[in-house]
Formats: sequence, C-alpha cells, structure tokens
Amino acid sequence: MATPPNSFCSLFFIYSILLSSFFLAYEAQAYPPVVNGLSYSFYSQTCPKLESIVRNHLEKEFTQASWQAAALLVVFFHDCFVQGCDGSLLLDGNPGERDHPLNRGISLKVLRTIDDLRNVVHNECGRIVSCADITVLAARDAVYLSGGPNFAVPLGRRDSLNFSFEEVNNLPLPYNITSVTLQTFASKNLDVTNVVALVGAHTLGRAHCHTFYNRLSPLDPNMDKTLAKILNTTCPSTYSRNTANLDIRTPKVFDNKYYINLMNRQGLFTSDQDLFTDKRTKGLVEAFAHDQTLFFEKFVDGFIRMSQLDVLTGNQGEIRAKCNVINNKRPIVTSINVDEMVQLIY
Ligand code: HEM
Ligand SMILES: *[C@@H]1O[C@H](CO)[C@@H](O)[C@H](O)[C@H]1NC(C)=O
Ligand SMILES: *[C@@H]1O[C@H](CO)[C@@H](O)[C@H](O)[C@H]1NC(C)=O
Ligand SMILES: *[C@@H]1O[C@H](CO)[C@@H](O)[C@H](O)[C@H]1NC(C)=O
Repeated sequence: MATPPNSFCSLFFIYSILLSSFFLAYEAQAYPPVVNGLSYSFYSQTCPKLESIVRNHLEKEFTQASWQAAALLVVFFHDCFVQGCDGSLLLDGNPGERDHPLNRGISLKVLRTIDDLRNVVHNECGRIVSCADITVLAARDAVYLSGGPNFAVPLGRRDSLNFSFEEVNNLPLPYNITSVTLQTFASKNLDVTNVVALVGAHTLGRAHCHTFYNRLSPLDPNMDKTLAKILNTTCPSTYSRNTANLDIRTPKVFDNKYYINLMNRQGLFTSDQDLFTDKRTKGLVEAFAHDQTLFFEKFVDGFIRMSQLDVLTGNQGEIRAKCNVINNKRPIVTSINVDEMVQLIY
C-alpha cells in the first residue's frame, strides 16, 4: 500500500530539516559566524598588504622583545571584553581603562608597538584601518609567531570615541573559582569550551605575585608542593614586584603544556587550577592536554568569537589617526544648548 502523500511529505520535511541542521551545526563548528559589517576580505582591495605588514613588523619586534607576544594577547582580551573590540583600552584618559588596577600590567611599550603598526599601515594604505583591527591582527600574529595556529580573522572594526573605566571591573579575576569565571564569560555569550580554550593563552607570559599569593599563604592544598616552594622564594610577600611564568613547562611557546600543568596541580591562579577541579571543565582540560590539535581548533574558535564582541562597524565610531587619542575632541555638550549643538554637528 502506498504511503499517503501528506505523511510522505512530512517525512521528507523532517529529513531535510535534520540534514540542513546537520550542515548548519557542522559549519558553525568549523567557523564561528561572522558579525554583520565584518568580513574576512574587508581590506583585500583597499589594503592588500595589511596582513603581511603586521606579521613582518611583529616578527622583527619579537626578535628584540619576545615578551610582547603575551602582552599583545592581553591587550586584545582586555580591549574586547570591555565595551567590545573597539580600541577603547588604547585611549589616554584621566583615568582611562589602562589606569585601572587590572590593566596595570600592560606596558607602554606594547601600546607603542600597536601604534607603530598603525603608522606603517596608514603610510601604506591611508587612514582606513582601525586601531581595533590592528589590535586583533597583532594578537592573532602573536599566537602564530609563538608556535600556535595560523588562522584568519574577520576585519572591519571601527574605533570607539570613548572608553569605560567602570566596565574594566567586569574582567574575570584570578582569585575566583570556575563557577564565577564561567558566569563572567557567559555574560559575553562565551560558553564552557570557549572559556577553557581561551584561558589556554596562559601558555604564554608572566604574572605578578599579588595575582597568585592567595594560594601561597595559606598554602592551597591543590598546588604542587615543589611549585609552591619555588613561588614562595619568588614572592616573599603579596607586595613583591616579582613575576612568575604562567606556564612552568614552556613559557615562551604557544602550546598545550598549560593543560598538562593543570593536570599536575601546577596552575598559577585559582581560576586556572580550578578548571581541573570543576566537573564542567575538567574533561576539556584533559582533552586539550592530550590533543594539541583539538586545543588549537577550539582556541581559534574562541578567539574569533571574542574578536567580534560588541564591535563598531559601518559608519559607527571612526578610524583613529593615532591609537591613543580620538580624532576630534567634541565640543563640551553640557555648556551649549541643543539648538546650537545641532548647528555644530550638521
Ligand atoms: C579566567 C579568565 C582569566 C583570568 C582570571 C586572567 C587573569 C590574568 C592575570 C591576573 C594575569 C597576570 C597579570 C599581571 O600580573 O600583570 C594574566 C596574564 C595573562 N593573561 Fe590572563 N586571565 C584570564 C583569561 C585570559 C584570556 C582569555 C587571555 C587571552 C586570550 C589571557 C591572556 C593572558 C596572557 C597572555 C597573560 C600574560 C601577560 C604578560 O606576560 O604580559 N588571559 N591573566
Ligand atoms: C560610549 O559611547 C557609546 C555610543 O555613543 C554609548 O552608548 C556609551 O554609553 C558611551 N560610554 C560611556 C562610558 O560614556
Ligand atoms: C571573586 O573574587 C573576589 C576577590 O577575591 C571576591 O571578592 C569575590 O567575592 C569573588 N566573586 C564571587 C562571585 O565569589
Ligand atoms: C611558604 O611560606 C609560608 C610563609 O611565608 C609558609 O607558611 C609555607 O609553608 C611555605 N610553603 C612552602 C611550600 O614552602
């Protein structure tokens, strides 16, 4: 007996939904969605040399001062997490985002490197590439030039006209446990896998004593005793200006050793080590420790997602001529009436 037409139709309908959702899921996993206004080929006509200029310039910078790779990753993270990837962290202010205690580790040298890149790029192509895009490209290249994955990022961000000192308080803290960390990132639509992969950036760089002293005194039983002894010597008190490597195995290589550290209770921060305690994240730590290719894949996914947080596009914001200042200080709005303001703007 023949199948009634309508039930055949609905079977076919269900089948095609399953099929298309399979492809959608597959695509989403391979490549995160691109935000409206950004594109992988944004400057391919207008500034075709952009990416090679940035990479070559940083390659030279890193032969002089390789620590800048880690610093560029932090600048990227702290710019994107606070008011979006809009270059707001780079702006001078009184106080600016850079003056916040959580940004105190960011040196002027690395901000100068970003503005140097901006200068070379603008000399080549004119003032069409934003400081926000250059920050993302520099962090992307810092990963690759340190031994990490090579990958493309969507471009076309514009620079902000303001910044938010207050919003810097939304950054995650090293003393917090995984539940808190996960909430912090969930507020930016970043999931558990994104978090565990992105924090893998702690495969590079250093941290000041006060950021992990809470684990030395009183001694955190979840810290390897040998590491605790070494850190005790480095940090006689929480006020010590000394620093320790975030990755005790390969501090200058972007690899998956950070996760192997965690499995050996050799993570530096509470927020690092607790990823191997919390049931939601422990499996991912083990997976990344065993499979560097998987870590790289998930890191790239998380990086691209974070690089698109609350971006300005189209005719929003501006393209800054210098990364630390907006192009034109606006008239002080409160001192004039609205009619005059309208005349000033139009
Ligand atoms: C739970 C989330 C995170 C917390 C609590 C955290 C916290 C910290 C702290 C306290 C430091 C040391 C700062 C200092 O002492 O100067 C640090 C360094 C660093 N962080 Fe994170 N971070 C987190 C996630 C990330 C992410 C997502 C990235 C990048 C994708 C990142 C990249 C780095 C790098 C590369 C360093 C070394 C900086 C240097 O040597 O200059 N972190 N982090
Ligand atoms: C910065 O400017 C944006 C867009 O005009 C505005 O929504 C935001 O509230 C401003 N932020 C601060 C801290 O002034
Ligand atoms: C995160 O850590 C800070 C500093 O130790 C603490 O004051 C705060 O209560 C913690 N946050 C939560 C939600 O537990
Ligand atoms: C580190 O020093 C503190 C006192 O400053 C001491 O209580 C603790 O036992 C030391 N830990 C190790 C592992 O040596």
